[in-house]
Amino acid sequence: MKVFTSKDQLTSEITGIKAKNDTIGFVPTMGALHQGHLSLVMAGFEKADVIVVSIFVNPTQFDNSEDLKKYPRTLDQDVSLLKTLNKDIIVYAPTVEDIYNKKVVSESFSFDGLEHEMEGKFRDGHFDGVGTIVKNLLEIVKPKYAFFGEKDFQQLQIIKKLVEKYHIPVKIIGCKIHREANGLAMSSRNTRLTEAHKNVSPFIYKTLKEAKLKFGTKSANKVTEWVKEQFAKNELLELEYFIIADTKTLKTVTRKNKKNTYRAFIAVYAGKIRLIDNIALN
Ligand code: PAJ
Repeated sequence: MKVFTSKDQLTSEITGIKAKNDTIGFVPTMGALHQGHLSLVMAGFEKADVIVVSIFVNPTQFDNSEDLKKYPRTLDQDVSLLKTLNKDIIVYAPTVEDIYNKKVVSESFSFDGLEHEMEGKFRDGHFDGVGTIVKNLLEIVKPKYAFFGEKDFQQLQIIKKLVEKYHIPVKIIGCKIHREANGLAMSSRNTRLTEAHKNVSPFIYKTLKEAKLKFGTKSANKVTEWVKEQFAKNELLELEYFIIADTKTLKTVTRKNKKNTYRAFIAVYAGKIRLIDNIALN
């Protein structure tokens, strides 16, 4: 497995792969890899000969400097984990300077309103940072396919919008959420949970599943109220938002329409750690 820290080295490797007519798939990550990330890599090998995994904690998508500072950085461990797959994987782990050329700022994007919902409301500038780095990486890696998890469903929709708006020649593939046996969505942030928060956090998915059942017979407002009540009773988890939204527009639903599909989205603080999850409702 090859690990590159410079754009130029990676570019010459990619030129070689393309010359052989091999198909490139791309899995962008911020590292601290877990089975959720690996499931994206494995989905990648169903379509591509070589998978490029980028590992880069992107400063411009953090609105909280403490979160950026504490974000786990475990490159050696990540490389070892990828090696266990025994596949043709290339790791690109650039420095901030390599990828940003000294100007560590975001471009400003319009994603037709998708960026103003949910995570966009609670994390200032987050999707400008994500758009900037993903656009940049797609231009460097030039993959035929790029794989993103439904764990960050809003991000997935925004990336689809990004490639459509900028005519980037790549197919974006969404992949299912990978969970712990207890239902907690896998996340690099889970390693920072205290024991008590780790024990209580499966409550998030359990509540999402019950909300899904209730959505069959009750209005979105009623379900939302019910979820808020459940979290009000939970002393260890603090609900930031629970929203039932239209899958395409991500706008909060007021009245259900049989023709539309909906998803429930949630963000919760377990102590200082912010966890997000979502579930398809119909
Ligand atoms: P990161 O949080 O490392 O996630 C990298 C990719 O893995 C994302 O597409 C994310 O949705 C997916 N992923 C994370 N946990 C998952 C799980 N439990 N099941 C399935 N997929 C999961 O998302 C980012 O990094 C960054 O914003 C990035 C796109 C790399 C831009 O910096």
